[in-house]
Amino acid sequence: MLILYTNMCINQGVGKTFKFDVIIGEEDMCDREPEKKRILSLMKRNGRIIIYSLRRMGKTSLVDVCSKKMRSIDSEVFHLYVDLSEVASLKETAVRFRSHYEFALKEQFPLKKVKIHINDLLSRLKLDIPGGVELSLEKYASLQPEEYLMSLFQELRKIGEKGPLALIIDEFQGISGLNDAQAILRREVKKLDNAAIVLMGSNQRLLYGMFNNKKSPFFGFGEDLELKPISIGDYVPYMNERFSEVNVSIDSEVAAYMMEKMNGIPNYINELGSWIVDTQTRTQLTKGHIDEALETAAHSKKGRYESALYGYSINQRKFVKAVAKMGVVKSFTGKEMVLETGLSPTELSRIGKNLEDAPILSRDTENRFFILDPFFRKFLEMM
Ligand SMILES: Nc1ncnc2c1ncn2[C@@H]1O[C@H](COP(=O)(O)OP(=O)(O)OP(=O)(O)O)[C@@H](O)[C@H]1O
Ligand SMILES: [Mg+2]
Repeated sequence: MLILYTNMCINQGVGKTFKFDVIIGEEDMCDREPEKKRILSLMKRNGRIIIYSLRRMGKTSLVDVCSKKMRSIDSEVFHLYVDLSEVASLKETAVRFRSHYEFALKEQFPLKKVKIHINDLLSRLKLDIPGGVELSLEKYASLQPEEYLMSLFQELRKIGEKGPLALIIDEFQGISGLNDAQAILRREVKKLDNAAIVLMGSNQRLLYGMFNNKKSPFFGFGEDLELKPISIGDYVPYMNERFSEVNVSIDSEVAAYMMEKMNGIPNYINELGSWIVDTQTRTQLTKGHIDEALETAAHSKKGRYESALYGYSINQRKFVKAVAKMGVVKSFTGKEMVLETGLSPTELSRIGKNLEDAPILSRDTENRFFILDPFFRKFLEMM
C-alpha cells in the first residue's frame, strides 16, 4: 500500500516533457495512428515495406512502438532490428547483423532458447570450415561474412516456422554503395518468405537509387510509406499538454508558425518546445516568442555548430550560408546562388557535389536543397 502511494505521488509530480534526439515510446508519440495501423497490419501479414522520410521525422520510433506492441501480444514473436548506418563493407554488414541478432535473441528469448539458436548457428558455420575448426561467431562474421549471413538467414527461417517474425533494417541506405551486400541480402530476403520485412532510411537520394534503379538488387522491392509532417490539429494539444507545466500555452496560428520554422520536423519542434519550457513561464506564446526562442537556442549551440563546420573551406562556408539565407535552393548553380556567394557555377557545382550527402544539407520532396536543422540554419544566418 505504502509503495503504491509513494509511486502515485512521484508520478503526479512529473508531467509530460518534450523529448528529442531519442527514440520515443508510445506515450510521447503524437498521432501517427494511420501509419501505426498500417505497419502493424503489415507485420501480421508478413508484408514488405520501405519507410522513408527526411531525417528526424520519427521512423525508428514509429517502428519500435509497433515492434514492441507485436512482441507484447505474443511471446513467440521475434523481431530482428539491424541498424546499417555507416557500414563500409560486406564484412561490416555481417558484423552489424551479428551484434544485433545476438542482442535481439537475449532481449526477446529465455536464456535456454538463446543458447540453442547460437549453438545452431555455430554448428552450421563449423561445417563450412575444413577440419571443423571452431571460431567465435564474431570471427565468422568478419572472416566469412557471406557464409555468416547465409547461415543467419537460415536460422531466421527456422525461427519464422515457430512464430511470427520480422526483420527490420534501419538506415538501409548505409549499404547503397555495397553491391555485394545488397545482392546477398536481396537473395536471402527473397527466401525469407515467412517474415515481415521493414526497411527504413533517411537519405532519399540514395534510397531512390536502391529501389528505382533497374540494375539494383532491390529494384521494385515492397511498398512505400513516406512519413510526412504531423498535422497542426494533432500537435497543438500535444504541445499544450507539455507547456502547461510552466503555464505556457500556444494557439494554432503560432503553433503553425513554430512548426514551419522547424521545417515540420518533430525532433526540432520538440527541441524548441523544450527550450521554451526551460526559458518561459506564464505566457500565451506569440510569433515573437518563437523567433526569440529560435535565436537564443541557436546561439546556445554555437560551439557545436562551429565544430560541425570545422574542415569546411571558405567557399564551402559561403555555399551553406547562402543556402541558409535562401531557405530552399532549386539549383545550386543557379543565378541566386552565384549572386549570393560570388562563386562561379562551375565552382558551385563542384562544392554542391561534394556536400550533397553531408548531414547538414537535405532535399525536400521537390528535390530542392535546404538546411535540415533549423537551429543550424539560424546560426548560419547570424554568422
Ligand atoms: N510521432 C511523434 N510525435 C512527437 N515527436 C516525435 C514523433 N516522432 C518523432 N518525434 C521526435 O523526433 C525525434 C526523432 O525520432 P526518431 O529517431 O524516431 O526519428 P528518425 O526518423 O528515425 O530519425 P533519423 O532519421 O535520425 O534516424 C524524437 O526524439 C522525437 O523528438
Ligand atoms: Mg532513425
